[in-house]
Amino acid sequence: MYSTVLALHSIFRWLVLLSLCYAIYRAYKGYASKSEFSFLDNKVRHWTATIAHIQLTLGILVYIKSPMIKYYFSDFRNLVADWNLTFFGLVHFILMMGAIVLITIGSAKAKRKKTAREKFRTMLVTYSIALALIFMAIPWPFSPLANRPYIRAF
Ligand code: HEM
Repeated sequence: MYSTVLALHSIFRWLVLLSLCYAIYRAYKGYASKSEFSFLDNKVRHWTATIAHIQLTLGILVYIKSPMIKYYFSDFRNLVADWNLTFFGLVHFILMMGAIVLITIGSAKAKRKKTAREKFRTMLVTYSIALALIFMAIPWPFSPLANRPYIRAF
């Protein structure tokens, strides 16, 4: 179960990144060209938030099931100095939660905004900040914070 959820969590990161980049591209294009907020724009807004919520669920499952996280909290006072454990136990968790809250608020606010321009601007700002946070908190093989593979096999 744990290894399957971890592999799903690893793969889903690409869907989160792809959907966010596409949503930001459409929001920028819509904002710059003063175009209408189309049915597709609304679908992209909605599905980007939904994909982030699925990744949140997978993240919580991994967090609960992870032997590394269990070990971390079994002796937190002594292990907090271990950066790799603290990265996954605290930093990754807090930054990703912050990003997902921002996507959720941005999606809801964009939905309620009256004009297309306001909708595009809300999506552009909130989704871009969320993308920056997520990019920083992903343990890329090249990251100075923590390293994991680009994709994890099942
Ligand atoms: C958009 C949000 C997120 C993205 C893109 C993301 C991405 C990732 C990636 C790429 C890994 C490495 C997977 C591997 O080892 O191959 C990872 C590990 C992990 N993630 Fe996330 N994550 C997100 C949100 C979360 C959240 C919200 C939580 C907790 C509630 C979480 C908990 C964890 C944990 C505990 C690990 C390490 C598990 C282990 O090695 O035992 N993630 N995450």
